[in-house]
Amino acid sequence: MANKTKIAVFASGNGSNFQAIADSAATGALQAEIMLVVTDRPQAYVMERAQQAGIPSFAFIPSAYESKQLYEEMLKEKLEQLNVEWIILAGYMRLIGPVLLEAFENRIINIHPSLLPAFPGKDAIGQTLAAGVETAGVTVHYVDAGMDTGKIIAQQSIAVRDRGREEVEEEIHEIEHRLYPATLQRLFAQ
Ligand code: GRF
Repeated sequence: MANKTKIAVFASGNGSNFQAIADSAATGALQAEIMLVVTDRPQAYVMERAQQAGIPSFAFIPSAYESKQLYEEMLKEKLEQLNVEWIILAGYMRLIGPVLLEAFENRIINIHPSLLPAFPGKDAIGQTLAAGVETAGVTVHYVDAGMDTGKIIAQQSIAVRDRGREEVEEEIHEIEHRLYPATLQRLFAQ
């Protein structure tokens, strides 16, 4: 078996993108090993998914640390102990700070449910629909210090004209679950 890329997945919520990545890694389509799932919300459903998939997880409470620098140093040490090469954000609701950005330079990736640079930040699907544009979509991008501002790696669009939020949301998530593992595999194979 070819070398697998060692990754950590950071998530704060449901974890359906974590699931898609884990499923793709399990079939071998994505040549990666998830060394750790990290969450800043111990009650997040992603923790249950990790347990069911038999993948180690780690929950921390940011407010228990004096600063982002301190909890990122703690995370950095953990990830380095596990020889993690890439950090994959999947619904992680915090900005990444200088400690992790420097330790994993150009090796932190995020997925966002809009056609960036349009509609960064929270509730991107709601922002897209409220703006009345005709096209929504998904972006996979490198993470920098900004909010959804890093270099774009892959995008896929869908038509949203005259469609309800639920239907659009469902299609966006379906796209995410295919696009994210496929894009990661392309990156890791480079
Ligand atoms: C996804 O829409 C992702 O694009 C965004 O947060 C959501 C996470 O969903 N960054 P899930 O927790 O992976 O189900």
